[in-house]
Amino acid sequence: MTGPPTDLAEAPPKRLHGRAFYQKIGSPKRIVAPMVDASELAWRILSRKYNADAAYSPMLHARLFAETESYRRQSLRYAPTSDTEPALSYDGDHNSDRPFLIQFCANDPQHLLSAAKIAQNHCDAVDLNLGCPQGIARKGHYGAFLQEQPDLIYKLINTLHKELDIPVTAKIRILETKEKTLEYAKMVLDAGASILTVHGRRRDQKSHNTGLADWSYIRYLRDNLPPETVIFANGNILYNADVEACLEVTGADGVMVAETNLYNPAVFMPPTASFEERFPRVDVMVRQYLQIVQDLTFGEGNPVVELSREEAREHASLTCIKSHLFRLLHAVFTRKENHYIRNTLAKATGQRFDEILKLADELEKVVEEQLKLTPETPEQWDEIMKEAGGPGADAKVLRIPWWRCQPYVRPTPQQAYEKGAMRKSKKELDAAAKESKRELDADSAAPSSTEETPAKRQKLEEPQPEQIKGNDQLASLDPNVAG
Ligand SMILES: Cc1cc2nc3c(=O)[nH]c(=O)nc-3n(C[C@H](O)[C@H](O)[C@H](O)COP(=O)(O)O)c2cc1C
Repeated sequence: MTGPPTDLAEAPPKRLHGRAFYQKIGSPKRIVAPMVDASELAWRILSRKYNADAAYSPMLHARLFAETESYRRQSLRYAPTSDTEPALSYDGDHNSDRPFLIQFCANDPQHLLSAAKIAQNHCDAVDLNLGCPQGIARKGHYGAFLQEQPDLIYKLINTLHKELDIPVTAKIRILETKEKTLEYAKMVLDAGASILTVHGRRRDQKSHNTGLADWSYIRYLRDNLPPETVIFANGNILYNADVEACLEVTGADGVMVAETNLYNPAVFMPPTASFEERFPRVDVMVRQYLQIVQDLTFGEGNPVVELSREEAREHASLTCIKSHLFRLLHAVFTRKENHYIRNTLAKATGQRFDEILKLADELEKVVEEQLKLTPETPEQWDEIMKEAGGPGADAKVLRIPWWRCQPYVRPTPQQAYEKGAMRKSKKELDAAAKESKRELDADSAAPSSTEETPAKRQKLEEPQPEQIKGNDQLASLDPNVAG
């Protein structure tokens, strides 16, 4: 995989590149991932309060951003342009929202450049999404579906590298082998990426097939790329200690976290922090989060007023509230007695922020009552903490009480198969059928001294589980799940 000649890759002399840039923004180690409808300004401010060193915007669509004023207004809040405008926080605010990277998806270098030129006044770097594996990215031809077009990827990155006043970075997924991933990473870096984020999962690892990220791929890149290359590792973080473990195992400069950050924004606290700091009470977290949203939307100290649908739509922090609360309160809602809160949340809208605040009052009451019934003790915390630590792949799942922020534990693909939530693709079924035929052929060709045991007879006579699944499941294949 080679891109165009590297003489195109000259950076404008006026700005920093690679490690020099990374150091200038404070060498961040704990990074909030780009997340559509989830890494918006309010969430980034909350995560930074809990020790995140840097954060990415949600992925923005480059062409829409370049061409559509209303999309730009819904995507980013801009700095006030006059003294009469209220001094609210805004995306990329130097006091409350830096370092900040704005991520785009694109497949056209000119669209990407136009969008990035607008964005560059509001952030430290512009990131290119090369990792999105969803059906919408396949349709729109962006994200991980550009992997087969290295020349286009090179051009996208190199155009920004040559033309922007700030650095360009990129977020990739791993490929089928370490060698191919290394070649891919080299191309992205040669094109001019200042930071390479590596999500240790392949493109087909999504939905129920997400499984574990493979940190050994990231280690391989670290060992085979020049030491000045800045790498962020992504995937498998459940607990604070996993961040340290990931840095050690992969040798990466920083660790990017998505899903667990949404369930426990305190995942970035240092492992030496207390239990309270690492697993804050959900009612406290919800209150802090809503306070940020309220200040951003209505102005600090201003009363809540009802908004029109159009007004509400222009506040990214309002449009994301429900999905954030559903995630934060996931464990709370597993309790039947709390379902009434879940039902109220389901009906809530960003336009009626006062109703969402009432829900926070109710939540506080519920947690307080629970704590009267089952007061927490430091001994109990010590007991839970003893199990903590180790890389995400091996860590035990801690029994964090439901009134505290939790890690996000994905079911494994095996569990998804067992529950029937995931079905095998036709390709996998054919491969499994071929494999079991090969085994059967090998068995029947085995020397006669190998006796046919009852177990082997059973194997010969019974259809294999994959074969049973295959017949009744082919009709209901979901392209997003089966990939
Ligand atoms: C709600 C959500 C939205 C996401 N949106 C984006 C996105 O906009 N851009 C992107 O590159 N990745 C996106 N991702 C992927 C994450 O950035 C990350 O690569 C992936 O979730 C693996 O990290 P994790 O194991 O910490 O969750 C998203 C993930 C989640 C959970």
